[in-house]
Amino acid sequence: MMKTNPSIFQFAIIFILILEIRIQLSEEIDFLVNRSKAGLFHIPKDLSLKTTILDISQNYISELQTSDILSLSKLRILIVSYNRIQYLDISVFKFNQELEYLDLSHNELGRISCHPTVNLKHLDLSFNAFDDLPICKEFGNMSQLEFLGLSATQLQKSSMLPIASLHIRKVLLVLGDTYGKKEDPESLQKLNTESLHIVFPIRKEFSFTLDVSVSTAVSLELSNIKCVPDGHGWSYFQNVLSKLQKNSRLSSLTLNNIETTWNFFIMLLQLVWHTSIEYFSISNVKLQGYPDFRDFDYSDTSLKALSIHQVVSNAFNLPQSYIYKIFSNMNIQNFTVSGTHMVHMVCPSQISPFLHLDFSNNLLTDIVFKNCRNLIKLETLSLQMNQLKELASIAQMTNEMKSLQQLDISQNSLRCLPPKVKVLDLHDNRIRSIPKPIMKLEDLQELNVASNSLAHFPDCGTFNRLSVLIIDSNSISNPSADFLQSCHNIRSISAGNNPFQCTCELREFVQSLGQVASKVVEGWPDSYKCDSPENYKGTLLKDFHVSPLSCNTTLLLVTIGVAVLVFTVTVTALCIYFDLPWYLRMVFQWTQTRRRARNTPLENLQRTIQFHAFISYSGHDSAWVKSELLPNLEKEELRICLHERNFIPGKSIVENIINCIEKSYKSIFVLSPNFVQSEWCHYELYFAHHNLFHEGSNNLILILLEPIPQYSIPSSYHKLKNLMAQRTYLEWPKEKSKHGLFWANLRASINIKLREQAKK
Ligand SMILES: *[C@@H]1O[C@H](CO)[C@@H](O)[C@H](O)[C@H]1NC(C)=O
Ligand SMILES: *[C@@H]1O[C@H](CO)[C@@H](O)[C@H](O)[C@H]1NC(C)=O
Ligand SMILES: *[C@@H]1O[C@H](CO)[C@@H](O)[C@H](O)[C@H]1NC(C)=O
Repeated sequence: MMKTNPSIFQFAIIFILILEIRIQLSEEIDFLVNRSKAGLFHIPKDLSLKTTILDISQNYISELQTSDILSLSKLRILIVSYNRIQYLDISVFKFNQELEYLDLSHNELGRISCHPTVNLKHLDLSFNAFDDLPICKEFGNMSQLEFLGLSATQLQKSSMLPIASLHIRKVLLVLGDTYGKKEDPESLQKLNTESLHIVFPIRKEFSFTLDVSVSTAVSLELSNIKCVPDGHGWSYFQNVLSKLQKNSRLSSLTLNNIETTWNFFIMLLQLVWHTSIEYFSISNVKLQGYPDFRDFDYSDTSLKALSIHQVVSNAFNLPQSYIYKIFSNMNIQNFTVSGTHMVHMVCPSQISPFLHLDFSNNLLTDIVFKNCRNLIKLETLSLQMNQLKELASIAQMTNEMKSLQQLDISQNSLRCLPPKVKVLDLHDNRIRSIPKPIMKLEDLQELNVASNSLAHFPDCGTFNRLSVLIIDSNSISNPSADFLQSCHNIRSISAGNNPFQCTCELREFVQSLGQVASKVVEGWPDSYKCDSPENYKGTLLKDFHVSPLSCNTTLLLVTIGVAVLVFTVTVTALCIYFDLPWYLRMVFQWTQTRRRARNTPLENLQRTIQFHAFISYSGHDSAWVKSELLPNLEKEELRICLHERNFIPGKSIVENIINCIEKSYKSIFVLSPNFVQSEWCHYELYFAHHNLFHEGSNNLILILLEPIPQYSIPSSYHKLKNLMAQRTYLEWPKEKSKHGLFWANLRASINIKLREQAKK
């Protein structure tokens, strides 16, 4: 007893803990109110008190007041960007103690009143109309601050002082259109941030001396750099960049929205080549003019990855091979050129250190890297969204890339596959088939052939390492079930949105898919629907069922055949071994007897009748009658009249017989050829007279002891012939096993309750 108590106690504590955790979790679930683009001029009054996230961006709100948001004590995230707010008093948030994310970017803020707010993690005041940096003394206490967005048209070193002791992850500094008039190049000196993004005034020739290298940032992003050929922009910008060479902290540089010349662009690359920068990314570049042919100095670089995105050039007839040569000989690991009009790339002139090349979204054709033996280190190559057409050339190209593991040639104009890769992305092409013999992709592990025109699953015989297959949105209507069985290593298969034809052939596939669905099949069951026939259209494969019998014609025929055969054999066996017809006749007679017994008015009968039955037989059959018939009837206490036993002296045989018949309920005739020959004549006259054998006569029981051939019946015995033809007799069975039923039937037909006094 003592032992159980603590454990119950522990359970209770755990239970309470779980409850508390659940309560906390449920409190953390966000309550989002999104009134973005709602044409608002004021903060709505009808906001729920539970609101944790409020998005009122892209409206016409010009004022924020304490009363607007006072009651939203749970508010954590407030997005007011793209409005018309001109003045901000930070004390309006003094009741929103939970507030940690405040986005006021893209307003018209010119002034700000300070108030201590310590909980903010994200404060965005960028793209506003501030002259001086909107940095309050109080910001110095926002030790949680991770992001700070600022805007100003003039910078002073001192204005950064309040936040100098913070460690901010990212600072966005947007310089207004009039920035540069009174520039202090050292203004960023006190800025303590990991990542700095400076947005220079747009459409303005670069003419700033701001020293971007003095901050603590390791990652620097500069937007809007315009250096036209005749201006001084390049020299200013060159000056800014050259200062970076002295800054060994900086490892990542991103330039956005650059408008310059080819020459400056290549000089820019060359300058960065000799800095500490490891990751260099340039996007949205507009280039003018033609490059001069100068050698590129690849020596002494820290660069690992260069990305160039979205380049347009106004030059009509560019000396492309010069540019391609500069690119292809870069001694870096990762190189990306995407969204340009690059139509070709040449082979590096010596073994290249390239590991990852991404040339997606250009205009490359089948001759790219043709016969190139210097890309033997290359591991991944993306040629997505280019103008590739022939797979044979891709096969040939990749053949020389001994280390290639991933090839993405999706979204090209390819028509059919290439070898020796592990990951192959071919989605969105025009592939109609994956030819078995040509393609020996023994190493292939992941294959993406979504959005092609494939009619069948690939054969796992040739891709037996395949573990991931993406084959959605093709033309597969009748997939075979073999696929899943042959692909032993498959971990994930995605085959939805194919036009499945829900007929019998699909059944096995659905079964095999259903078995592994939860583990392996992506998008199951929702993306797997019948497309045809019409009556199944839209039905999920999961819910598509047909019986095995209706599907398999052979099975159906065999089943019917077997059933018929079994039936025939059974019936034949019953007929042969158990004499079914005999039994049927017996049963039929039994039921007839029962029916007749019910319809007979007994009282009338009982008055005149003394015996249950009269038996007539030939002397030749007397042995059977004495040993079989009589004992079997009399043991049931049935009273039998035999003409020799109940003989009345002084009367003729016929009179005695007739007397017997009249006092008996039934007349039993034991028929045999002997009987017909010797006895029938005794009755013929009487029967003719009394019409005993009229249609439906009840009183007569014929036992056929031995078969009587038709010819042996004298032609004048019409009645007998009729009776025999109607087969209304009980047949004495030779088999002992049938005797029981015979006697029962016979007894049933003569069993009637006779009056007691009749016994005497
Ligand atoms: C609010 O809705 C807009 C689209 O109307 C969407 O762009 C924005 O992301 C939504 N805001 C939030 C916080 O989900
Ligand atoms: C910052 O916080 C400290 C103590 O936490 C306080 O003494 C100081 O006045 C605060 N500074 C501002 C500008 O609010
Ligand atoms: C190079 O690219 C690969 C693949 O995209 C990526 O995993 C890797 O981190 C990149 N390395 C560098 C140094 O950027």
